[in-house]
Amino acid sequence: MTDISKVAICGAGGTMGAGIALVAARAGFETWCFDMAGEGLERSRKAAEKFFAKSVERGKMSAEDREAALSRMHDTTDLADLVDCDLIIEAIFENLDVKRELFGKLNGICKAETIFASNTSTLSITEIAGGSGRADRVVGMHFCLPAQVMKLIEMSRGINTSDETFAAAWAWTEAAGQVPVETQDKPGFILNALLVPFNNDVIRAIEAGLATPEDIDTAIKAGLGYRMGPCTLLDLIGLDTQIRLGEAFYPITLDKRAAVPPLLRRMVAAGKLGNKSGEGFLTGLTREKATAAPSFTIRKGGESRSFPEGDAFLAAGGENSAVTVHLGGGFVPDPSKTAVLVELDTECLGVHSGEDMGREGSNAVGFARYRNGNDAPSNLIEIVRQPSTDEAALAAARAVFETAGFETVVCADQPGRIIDRLVRPKYNDALRFLDEGLASAADMDKTCSMGLGYPDGPVERVTRGGLARHFDVTSAIYAMTGQPGYAPARAAVVAKARAD
Ligand SMILES: NC(=O)c1ccc[n+]([C@@H]2O[C@H](COP(=O)([O-])OP(=O)(O)OC[C@H]3O[C@@H](n4cnc5c(N)ncnc54)[C@H](O)[C@@H]3O)[C@@H](O)[C@H]2O)c1
Repeated sequence: MTDISKVAICGAGGTMGAGIALVAARAGFETWCFDMAGEGLERSRKAAEKFFAKSVERGKMSAEDREAALSRMHDTTDLADLVDCDLIIEAIFENLDVKRELFGKLNGICKAETIFASNTSTLSITEIAGGSGRADRVVGMHFCLPAQVMKLIEMSRGINTSDETFAAAWAWTEAAGQVPVETQDKPGFILNALLVPFNNDVIRAIEAGLATPEDIDTAIKAGLGYRMGPCTLLDLIGLDTQIRLGEAFYPITLDKRAAVPPLLRRMVAAGKLGNKSGEGFLTGLTREKATAAPSFTIRKGGESRSFPEGDAFLAAGGENSAVTVHLGGGFVPDPSKTAVLVELDTECLGVHSGEDMGREGSNAVGFARYRNGNDAPSNLIEIVRQPSTDEAALAAARAVFETAGFETVVCADQPGRIIDRLVRPKYNDALRFLDEGLASAADMDKTCSMGLGYPDGPVERVTRGGLARHFDVTSAIYAMTGQPGYAPARAAVVAKARAD
């Protein structure tokens, strides 16, 4: 239930505002679409007509409901028209002074009970509220792009937000058919606090020559089940936007992972902004999968994390083959083979093959089938190469696994390979956020699954895989990199201590 009936969207001529206006009008609220730019409002009106027409076409809405929704949308460039609105949602430029000025003006126009909500991604609700003259009636209401499709809303209170205001704004989001989660007034709330450093890690991994953007996307999708790879997402949101996010967060959080990676700046300087400029991280190059493979011989040195007892792959091996596959350790160099494949755990390939062989050329190739801790193994094989690994050995490794039905990616012999290097700091963040009370585990997980299309959330995932295992993996990477993002989170240290 909500007492709110009239809603205004400020910045309704822009990307987010246009979508939020659709949400409000679709749900039956009289919706004032305010923007300082009349052309923006015209664009949004056309987009609204198109969107609702599509909804009718798809059977999601009747033709009468479409007409009714459109008739509830009132365009204006005059702030005075918002005089009797119950809720104002601002989605104007991401600038503190601009937002404070708007709320200050609205304070003089709107009735005393009107709630002001901000869709800011990076600014503090408390600071925005400071310019409003009604700090107790200001709330954070962060929609996801595109707002008319994404249900998730991150709701946050400024220091002075009253419980009554928060409850009323929350009730409105539910009445509008959205799914609110509660978070604190901290940079990036939940979604961007997890996503911005993760995206930067991806860019740094590309810059460090870990793997191609295409292989990073394949690994994340096949290994973790994300609907979209991070490089595709970066190209979609825009590389310039990622710079702006980093520039907003780093000075406040001093988290080095939030700082803008040099490669990102170079890409933007070169005019590669992602989809909007036609070129970003992804090159569009695709690789044919192998259809035939050399036979292989399996040698078991110990228990295999990649292929546990009973795995179909174990039955496929033969004797005296051109490729040897060492499972569970026990590497023996054999230059007479096309390739000698070595299963890796958290260690680097160099531990088995020697660092010199990496420089001088070798048929030794590392691999690991990705597993979230102690979860069942995924369908992804990360193949690990050293600088001068034989191309024929790499091709044989790919062929062995691809013909057995696995997705393969190739990465350099760097700590954590692709997935653990990229995802473990995010799990650490989520565990720390939980300790700090940023949001509940359920709300953090809901944010990631609903806002980012992940199959589950980071807390659920890392817990399911085993916190003690998370400790082992992060400790190994931390020992090699010294980067604080890998220092195991408190909960993992506790779990490890209890497991020992
Ligand atoms: N784009 C996203 O993915 C995204 C996601 C969530 C939240 N946000 C946040 O939403 C807000 C808007 O972002 P956007 O991407 O839609 O921006 P945008 O540039 O597409 O739209 C901003 C609109 O606000 C209007 N505007 C600016 N100042 C105004 C003022 N003083 N009065 C009236 N209208 C004014 C502009 O004319 C423009 O139409 C920002 O706070 C942003 O951080 C963006």
